[in-house]
Amino acid sequence: MRNQIIKLIPVVAVALVLASCGRDVKEPGRIYMPDMTYSNSYKAYTASDIATPEGNFMSARYPAAKTIPYGYIPSDSAVRRNPAYLMSYVAKNHYTHSAENWQAEFDRAGKEIKDPLPYTDENKTEGKRLYDINCTPCHGSGGEGNGQLVELPGGGDGPFTSRPPAYKTRIPQVNDGNIFYVVSYGKNMMGGYGFQLNVKERWQVIHYIKSLAGITGDATGAGAIASAAPVKEEPKKKSK
Ligand code: HEC
Repeated sequence: MRNQIIKLIPVVAVALVLASCGRDVKEPGRIYMPDMTYSNSYKAYTASDIATPEGNFMSARYPAAKTIPYGYIPSDSAVRRNPAYLMSYVAKNHYTHSAENWQAEFDRAGKEIKDPLPYTDENKTEGKRLYDINCTPCHGSGGEGNGQLVELPGGGDGPFTSRPPAYKTRIPQVNDGNIFYVVSYGKNMMGGYGFQLNVKERWQVIHYIKSLAGITGDATGAGAIASAAPVKEEPKKKSK
């Protein structure tokens, strides 16, 4: 008896397998576990059981009103200068940071990006802390471009072959947005700090380096000395 049952097992199994195959290849056949065959979540573009207040049964709903698409560039200057907007990654998505676009994006950033952070002692102090960690090796603690990687304590050339300009000379030639672009994405031999410093930290560092350049308050580079347009400059290759 027991032997017969064991012999029957393969027969029953084959019968089950065959019975589960329907003739129509587009149909799943007999379904033993419906919750595995049919997903509980909505399939895209199928009807939903729940209607919108307007009586729409679509499962793919429209985004909420005033949703901002990813990478969208608002034309409204009030939005562009809005601190929350400038602090967001949306502002960052305007820039590709590809070598071919460098100059055009640097120029555009100088016009578009405004400093959203209020000038407070707290922001400047935090900016100094971040500057001392990230920037002094090249720019030097006073921003003269004589960090220990550039100039050895004895006076000889350090291992870093590109000497940064002194902030006192360079910062008054550019706008806040230009500086922000360089700190975020780099310039020639200087790497970008977009990954090390978040948007707020970058502005805090900028407040500090502007103070090293002798600029007080929120006066921006080019505007701080004259209402001249930002200086255009080709990014050079490694200089030495
Ligand atoms: C590894 C060395 C190095 C480090 C670290 C470094 N820089 Fe620079 N930086 C340079 C060099 C080199 C230049 C000059 C680039 C050029 O004009 O070719 C430069 C230029 C600049 C400029 C002038 C941009 C312009 O438009 O001319 C600013 C502003 C600046 N750096 C800010 C910073 C800040 C802020 C930090 C720290 C978060 C920093 N740098 C860290 C090497 C460095």
